[in-house]
Amino acid sequence: MAFDIRKEIERLKREKNAVILAHNYQIKEVQEIADFVGDSFELAKIGKEVEAETIVFCGVRFMAESAAILSPDKKVLLPVEDAGCPLADTIKAKDVRALKETYPGIPVVTYINSSVEVKAESDYCCTSSNAVDVVNSIDSDEVIFIPDSNLGSFVQEKTDKKLILWDGHCTVHHRVNVEDILRIKAIYDDPYVICHPECRPEVVEACDVACSTSKMIEEAKKTDKKIVILVTEEGMRHRIEKEVKDKLIIVASPKLMCVNMKKTKLQHVYEALALEQTEIKVEEEIREKALIPLKRMLEIGKKAKQLAGV
Ligand code: 13P
Ligand code: SF4
Repeated sequence: MAFDIRKEIERLKREKNAVILAHNYQIKEVQEIADFVGDSFELAKIGKEVEAETIVFCGVRFMAESAAILSPDKKVLLPVEDAGCPLADTIKAKDVRALKETYPGIPVVTYINSSVEVKAESDYCCTSSNAVDVVNSIDSDEVIFIPDSNLGSFVQEKTDKKLILWDGHCTVHHRVNVEDILRIKAIYDDPYVICHPECRPEVVEACDVACSTSKMIEEAKKTDKKIVILVTEEGMRHRIEKEVKDKLIIVASPKLMCVNMKKTKLQHVYEALALEQTEIKVEEEIREKALIPLKRMLEIGKKAKQLAGV
């Protein structure tokens, strides 16, 4: 009988009491085999709450690390060991210590796209879905915001606090420029343009809305326009097309492809389960430090939801 990789993944999942989490940018086949598909915030929350012994995290390293920090009792597997995030690599723990020395007493808010060592030096974590809420919840007129300066500029527009930024970027979103947006908008009649706040400020300005990847699904459903242009990683198109059948979904530019997010194939998910690899292990002392900013973010997220009545 032919080897059916999907069936084998299902069998191993049951055998090992495992769940598969996949980020919205993963390839279609991986999204389809996953138990949960979501943005960074949703996946961090689900990873903590889900009842399972093992989490197979189809995404990039910082996401699997966050799950390992939040769930020390679970085995967290990253199917492709070198699936990293160039944005997270723009800052090291020593850089955060230097910033804290330069700006003593100013709280540090760190985007979840960062290493466990950087989180361990931080006061708060945030994702693109809650960065504004997290910054506004802090009792300080100034905040150090790292490492994405585009997301930082986006937050700066929405807060009265003064943000001190780090010059890091997502190589994928930062590649897109205003000309790309104007070109695609000129081709399609009356489109609704949704971008990720990791885009350049002038790109955000040229779009209708900037939001987290999962919020993009809501935005695409909500708009009356028939054409939706996405200015984010191209995996998002499949995610939205599954839920929004009556609109044409376009990705703004072929530049919008994250090679790291595309590394994980079904074969790697199978191998991860079969061989229980690659396990993400975080040293306990550093895990305890990194847990503090992550827990604060989850608490702020909970309060924001209560206030919004959802
Ligand atoms: P989201 O948290 O919006 O899913 O973004 C994650 C990411 O890596 C964007 O490039
Ligand atoms: Fe990192 Fe950008 Fe890829 Fe997201 S899209 S994982 S921020 S490089």
